[in-house]
Amino acid sequence: MRVGVLTGGGDCPGLNAVIRAVVRKGVQDYGYDFIGFRDGWRGPLEGDTMPLDVKAVRGILPRGGTILGSSRTNPIKVDRGIERIRENLQKLEVDALVAIGGEDTLGVATRLHEHEVKVVGVPKTIDNDLGATDYTFGFDTAVNIATEAIDRLHTTAESHRRVLIVEVMGRHAGWIAIHSGMAGGANVILIPEQNFDVEEVCGWVDSRFRTNYAPIIVVAEGAIPLAGQMVTKDQTLDAFGHVKLSGIGDWLASEIEKRTGHEARTTVLGHVQRGGTPTAFDRWLATRFGFHAIDAVNAGDWGKMVALHGTDVVTVPLEAATRELKTVPPALYDEAKVLFG
Ligand code: F6P
Repeated sequence: MRVGVLTGGGDCPGLNAVIRAVVRKGVQDYGYDFIGFRDGWRGPLEGDTMPLDVKAVRGILPRGGTILGSSRTNPIKVDRGIERIRENLQKLEVDALVAIGGEDTLGVATRLHEHEVKVVGVPKTIDNDLGATDYTFGFDTAVNIATEAIDRLHTTAESHRRVLIVEVMGRHAGWIAIHSGMAGGANVILIPEQNFDVEEVCGWVDSRFRTNYAPIIVVAEGAIPLAGQMVTKDQTLDAFGHVKLSGIGDWLASEIEKRTGHEARTTVLGHVQRGGTPTAFDRWLATRFGFHAIDAVNAGDWGKMVALHGTDVVTVPLEAATRELKTVPPALYDEAKVLFG
């Protein structure tokens, strides 16, 4: 049996840990051969491969990024994309694929499964917005990086009595914002799931200054003001139709300055949240996902994705992962609000 492995979408801490676990267990327990596809779906689409054996995965457990490279290539948008992938898999004598990725990568995997490609998915994203799994790996690392940044920003906020705004990633889900905001002791957390009222935010800013402390606001890149629109970098869309988010932090700073007279500054954490070594939790989760993914291959559990349910790793249908976005429930946001202002 020859198994192809690919990583698609934004890079994410823990991808290498999955690759290592898949290959180690696949070779040791099942005697499989592996082949790495470069840059997400571009690899199988163009037949671009690299050797993937036990030697190639030595030492990669703590490394961020992905040794296979990644891209947002969407074969569904490419002429004969699905057929070309099928042809290349046949030519390269690849019997099965392990696709590691988020909503977009797993969406393509679902389509390939419908076209009889033997595929198993592994959910990754720092955004934690995939349904059917309690957590995705990469999320915990992003939350820890954002929390450390918030901890550090408290110093300047208090020394200069400034409003400090931290813009975090997460696309249309507020998971990174709510986890890091609560962990870092933010005074306001704004998430995409609930449009915010700038006047109310200014009220929280004022009340924080009245208690002689300076406010820290965590805003998710996809957060939207009540009377307004989502702020985007520009109007260009990627191959999966996503806009580039970011900018809401700067917009909010200028509104707060205008309305309260307090100096407000924004720190955009950006790709720092996806960089560097994964946390212990993400290495643990990614490694277990890798083991269970290759077990699924061995069991012929095609069209499935590994998922964390409580402390168990299970398999669920691939399309369950992408059916709907997993967002922050209102009750959880209400819980966090106790600390606002
Ligand atoms: O999905 C992960 C993520 O980091 C999002 O939080 C963010 O909106 C997006 O990817 C950024 O993508 P890119 O690196 O392609 O600009």
